[in-house]
Amino acid sequence: MLILGIETSCDETSVAVVEDGKKILSNKISSQIEIHKEYGGVVPEIASRHHIKNIAAVMQESLDEAGVGLDDMDYIAVTYAPGLIGALLVGISFAKAISYGKNIPLVPVHHLKGHIYSNFAEHEVKLPAICLIVSGGHTNIVYLNEEHRFENLGGTLDDAVGESYDKVARVLGLGYPGGPIIDKLSYNGNPDAISMPEPKVGGYDFSFSGVKTAVINYVNKMRMKGEVFSPEDLAASFQERVVDILCKKTIAAALEKGVKTILIAGGVAANSALRRELSKRAEEHGIEVHYPSMALCTDNAAMISVAAYYKLNYGREEGKIADLGLNGVASMPIEED
Ligand code: KG4
Ligand code: ZN
Repeated sequence: MLILGIETSCDETSVAVVEDGKKILSNKISSQIEIHKEYGGVVPEIASRHHIKNIAAVMQESLDEAGVGLDDMDYIAVTYAPGLIGALLVGISFAKAISYGKNIPLVPVHHLKGHIYSNFAEHEVKLPAICLIVSGGHTNIVYLNEEHRFENLGGTLDDAVGESYDKVARVLGLGYPGGPIIDKLSYNGNPDAISMPEPKVGGYDFSFSGVKTAVINYVNKMRMKGEVFSPEDLAASFQERVVDILCKKTIAAALEKGVKTILIAGGVAANSALRRELSKRAEEHGIEVHYPSMALCTDNAAMISVAAYYKLNYGREEGKIADLGLNGVASMPIEED
């Protein structure tokens, strides 16, 4: 089964061809990071315009690399929620046009499920599992059972974890996106140098605004006093607190649900400390941790094809195939897909 995947929910225009939910024949990504860098974050209108400009060429490159044509496709999969609405609509309209013109069924895919299923392309995943979704827009703990049903156990009450990384990098004048920069800077810092608050949030919910504000206040105070400080120490202290929060809650959820598998998904799954620390703590409980390779961590269309494969095999009957009325949805809890 060949599935053409299309992803345009944020600032990457991506088209992929995946065979049987596993074999990635191509996964072309045109990133707009260089364009949005100038503004310190993604500008929705600019993102949509670039998707329109690039999507046809990205698809052609993807088909060429896979050595296939549109007529070989069994399904077209497209991200329809959640995301920037104008950006989503570019991918959806493009997918609908192909679906109609070539008479290929259209599968609507939830972006966060795409992130989770990226793990299934590379690992033998044993269900049930706890999924930690960490991206620029989301921080959620989700339970995934053997029937591939999702249950959201908790999420952030304020900033997403990637968003707080981006804000911390911005206040330090380090550029965008902040995650990889802060991650790298932390290697040379002392995580115990600056004390970071521990949020008092119950259950599996998160709050990162207190930690973020602590960083901003520290920087402002030092600058006002004209004192020099170590950005490395600050990055390391921030990262250690954030990673500790994520690990504690994820392990607690895994133990409560009695699962033996944890999946990390989303852009922040690329974080070296999170990968290392969560794997270490999970191992102490005999729990296996999977995370995608770097190329599959950030937004890409291969994960959308993979998620479509599982939706076709396990999803609710009425939601598998979309008609030409398919619309984009900016915000949608994972269970509603
Ligand atoms: O999943 P993604 O590509 O886009 C969204 O759907 O949001 O995630 C992007 C986010 C950004 O906030 C970026 O700073 C963060 O992932 N990120 C990282 C790392 N690499 C990317 N955060 C921490 N450490 C990293 N190594
Ligand atoms: Zn994403």
